[in-house]
Amino acid sequence: MQAQIDQYTNEINAFSPANADELEAFRIKFLGTKGLIKDLFEEFKTVGPEEKRVFGKVLNQFKQLAEAKYSELKEGLTSETVNPKSEIDLTLPGDGFEIGSRHPLSLVRNEIIDIFKRLGFVVAEGPEIEDDWHNFSALNFPEEHPARDMQDTFFIRKGEGTDDIALRTHTSSVQVRMMEQGKPPFRAIMPGRVYRNEAISARAHCFFHQVEGLYVDENVSFSDLKQTLYHFVQELYGEGTQVRFRPSYFPFTEPSAEMDISCTICKGAGCNMCKYSGWVEILGCGMVDPNVLENCGIDSKKYTGFAFGMGMERIANLKYVIRDLRLFSENDVRFLKQFQSEII
Ligand code: PHE
Repeated sequence: MQAQIDQYTNEINAFSPANADELEAFRIKFLGTKGLIKDLFEEFKTVGPEEKRVFGKVLNQFKQLAEAKYSELKEGLTSETVNPKSEIDLTLPGDGFEIGSRHPLSLVRNEIIDIFKRLGFVVAEGPEIEDDWHNFSALNFPEEHPARDMQDTFFIRKGEGTDDIALRTHTSSVQVRMMEQGKPPFRAIMPGRVYRNEAISARAHCFFHQVEGLYVDENVSFSDLKQTLYHFVQELYGEGTQVRFRPSYFPFTEPSAEMDISCTICKGAGCNMCKYSGWVEILGCGMVDPNVLENCGIDSKKYTGFAFGMGMERIANLKYVIRDLRLFSENDVRFLKQFQSEII
């Protein structure tokens, strides 16, 4: 009997079930109503009183061993089924989180700033609520100029002459502020939002964005203007982009021009974007009118300068082909997340 118990003890100690079925087989074999332990107790009844004394203890210990082993294994198996290891696999990669993207206008503005910074231009800003002087009068707008008309300008307070307060209609007002406050030379670009009293549609908006450029020093000429803008366009849209200047009129520049570039979409072949002309206008520019220099306290006999102003939406359009201006300000995430950039 002792030999048999020893053998079973070894078997129980070594037992390691792969699944619940094997454990159940173990229970039936040892602890079941017709199991081995039951048999041993039956056998125990038949032995003499001397052996009973010895084996009573041994047998009870053996039974406890089998029961303890069974409940230990059963617990192990249940907790694994309820919470299988595969569900908490710590080696799996974690959930990623979404990174926002730059607004297309910010991307374009940053790129423009980068290009001009490399040419030594600094960045300047001015207020969006302006007085008549900075937005119009100092810029040589005649008293009766139609741009002062209610149709174009959002007036906040309409007074007599210089008392008018309005939302700036262009970033040229920042030129004035800069020249009034400092001494030449000036070499700056001025990005910002501007407002015009227009009905909102796919092609017009009551606010949009401009970047103004100003360069004032001794001996600045129109060829400096042309070369600077030519270089800018090559940097922004790639080598080989053509430029052309058409004579134009702005009260604050003389001579004035508008600059076209060869269509970046069809490369000049003709498409919707360039209305089949092969050219698209991107900015207005010219030599700063001597009256403007004088209005800002700068000696126009000693200094000359050039200025330019471009619409950022147009620049972005030629890069990303955005057909509806309203998309820029609607903050539709489906639109915005297309502009993933490396610069975060
Ligand atoms: N301010 C002009 C506009 O809004 C653009 C411009 C800026 C033209 C500077 C010439 C020089 O249309």
